[in-house]
Amino acid sequence: MTVSVCVGSSCHMKGSYQVVKIFGELIKENDLESVVTLKASFCMGRCLNGISVLADDRPIQNVGFANAQQIFYDEIYPQAQREKQALENA
Ligand code: FES
Repeated sequence: MTVSVCVGSSCHMKGSYQVVKIFGELIKENDLESVVTLKASFCMGRCLNGISVLADDRPIQNVGFANAQQIFYDEIYPQAQREKQALENA
C-alpha cells in the first residue's frame, strides 16, 4: 500500500513532516517496509481538514502529529498486516 502525507504549506505548518517521521519509524518498527511505501506529496486540495493523508486512495481525516501513532495503528496497520500476510502466503 502507499501512504501519502501532504507536505504542502498548510499541512506543513500543522506538522506534516513530523507525521512523515512518525509513520516512517512505525513502519520500520513493525517491519512493514516491504508492504508500505511512504510518500510526501504536494497539496491535495483539502487543506482545512488537518494534515491530509491518503492510504492508497482512501483519505484519512483529522491527522495531527499528536495522534499520528494512533492513526497509524487504526488506519494503516491493519491493511498493511493483511497485505504482508498475503505476500507471505503467496
Ligand atoms: S497543503 Fe495539504 S492539502 Fe493543501
